[in-house]
Amino acid sequence: MCGIVGGIGKCDFRDYVLGGLKKLDYRGYDSAGLAYVKEGKVNLYKTPGTVEALASKVPAFEGAEIAIGHTRWATHGDPSEVNAHPQFSQGRLVYLVHNGVIENFRALKTRLKARGYSFLSQTDTEVIADVLEFHYLTNGKDALKAIRETEIDLEGSYACAIIFEGDEHLYFMKKGSPLLIGVGDKAMYLASDCLPMIKLAKSYVDLSDGDYGCLSPEGLTLYNEGRAVEPVYSERKIDDYDYDLRGYPHFMLKEIEEEPMVLSRLIDNYFDPESGEYLFDPSLLKAMKEADEIIFLACGTSHYASLYGLEFMEFYGKKASSYIASEWAYHPISLSKKPFYVLLSQSGETADLIACQKIINDEGRPNLAIVNVKDSTLSRRATYSCLIYAGLEVAVAATKSYIAQIGLMALLLGALTNSSSPVRHLEKLGEAIEDVIARKEDIHETAKKITGARDAFFVGRGSDYSAALECALKLKEISYIHAEAYAGGEIKHGPIALIEKGTPVFGLISEVDTALPLRNNIEEVKSRGAATYIVSSLSLSSGKDAFVTKDVKPYLNSFLKVVYGQYLAYYVSLEKGLPIDKPRNLAKSVTVE
Ligand code: M6R
Repeated sequence: MCGIVGGIGKCDFRDYVLGGLKKLDYRGYDSAGLAYVKEGKVNLYKTPGTVEALASKVPAFEGAEIAIGHTRWATHGDPSEVNAHPQFSQGRLVYLVHNGVIENFRALKTRLKARGYSFLSQTDTEVIADVLEFHYLTNGKDALKAIRETEIDLEGSYACAIIFEGDEHLYFMKKGSPLLIGVGDKAMYLASDCLPMIKLAKSYVDLSDGDYGCLSPEGLTLYNEGRAVEPVYSERKIDDYDYDLRGYPHFMLKEIEEEPMVLSRLIDNYFDPESGEYLFDPSLLKAMKEADEIIFLACGTSHYASLYGLEFMEFYGKKASSYIASEWAYHPISLSKKPFYVLLSQSGETADLIACQKIINDEGRPNLAIVNVKDSTLSRRATYSCLIYAGLEVAVAATKSYIAQIGLMALLLGALTNSSSPVRHLEKLGEAIEDVIARKEDIHETAKKITGARDAFFVGRGSDYSAALECALKLKEISYIHAEAYAGGEIKHGPIALIEKGTPVFGLISEVDTALPLRNNIEEVKSRGAATYIVSSLSLSSGKDAFVTKDVKPYLNSFLKVVYGQYLAYYVSLEKGLPIDKPRNLAKSVTVE
């Protein structure tokens, strides 16, 4: 949520800032802005809407010395020009862009009002600018002192890039929201992640909470809690490969079709075929074995992936539960004596999950973060951390990361049970996904039939119910069709009242024990007018089914129904002409509660 780009030195800043904001737009935003310093003077441009709209307002600005840019996902105040960033202080001495939420902004506003400040915007960010300005003026225009004192005043999360009018440096501060410094040839950069800088930076510094400092064209000066800190430089963070559409029209399509490759990369990282050994940290496996309950916490798609983790732990004979992170954070009850927590998150930055992890860490409980982003907040703060190696996921709708999360949990099950079978099973799953990919046009044809639907339902039993939840989430988030998932047996207990003539209902069949009752459920809705589509596994299929997936191991069969659901959502959105990779109101990484 919110994207920050900035830099100082010799650089084509118009290109870098606008291009960089475009690269960050996967995070979700509804307004954009930038400021640059030329000949010591700050120039400011902002607009509601897109980076393209901003670009049309911004003239060429060769020779600029410093620039900052921002895409804003509105939290305080509507997505208007006045609320867009950069925000500036009352005396126009401070301009800044901010990602995060200032929790005590109302109290700070009251204090500032008493000092004669008034406000133009509804944002919490404007308050930071004014607090900075106040400390700047009371500290003889010492910007670093002003930042340190402001940090003490602020409660909440922030990553900020800051310009002080008349000062030759670019300043920053960070707590709770990601910010990265990039080291270039004749310039220094900063951004919310490395994407805007991959072509320019030779190395990076991942800022830690409490870090603040300044950039000059020659380098970085870093402090934490008032003390100078030696920066830790690391090499290139990602490959251009991930941020290249490689001929695909959308990242979502590319990412679905990377799923077989992602599974085999996952296996390569966690299993050594020579020795037949898994490569998990032995102390992680020991801690999981010793736990009396495994508790999964996650949000959205990651939560639906965790339902499989729960099932796998039950195969293993372990008591397990799965909770939505934003619920558990307010009711963190565990009756177990020795719980072990598994936190699943593609981004590793989801605020609700970070709140859970704080509770867990404060209690001194062990936890494993399963993330896609190396060095993300969750992974840094976890007792154990496992990467899912899905590669950068750009589309807001999670696809390959979901498959990789489940793949990782299947491998963990293999390691816990000393069985290499999950490795072979996942290889077969990859082949079966290739088969779905090869027949995607059949799914496209079904998608065309449901583009006009107001509602759609996905029905499954057992693991197909978990798959149905994910299929419904995919459809609603990118096609804007109201979609719900129901456990087959529940249909008669209420939802059947929603069935009208032509309502699309998808029945998912992967389990031998529930295949027949599920078919009966589908017959019941069909006889009330629903347009029904059965997606079944080959050994459980009938000639009339809408789509049949290859048979893999029973515990993996239902994932193929999710791949079907991913394609269905993609094609419905395509037919409706919607912004597939960046659906309205959504952000890739949900860094606010
Ligand atoms: O980064 P995370 O996995 O923690 O994100 C959790 C959810 O915000 C995320 O899965 C969301 O539901 C996706 N947009 C689903 O496609």
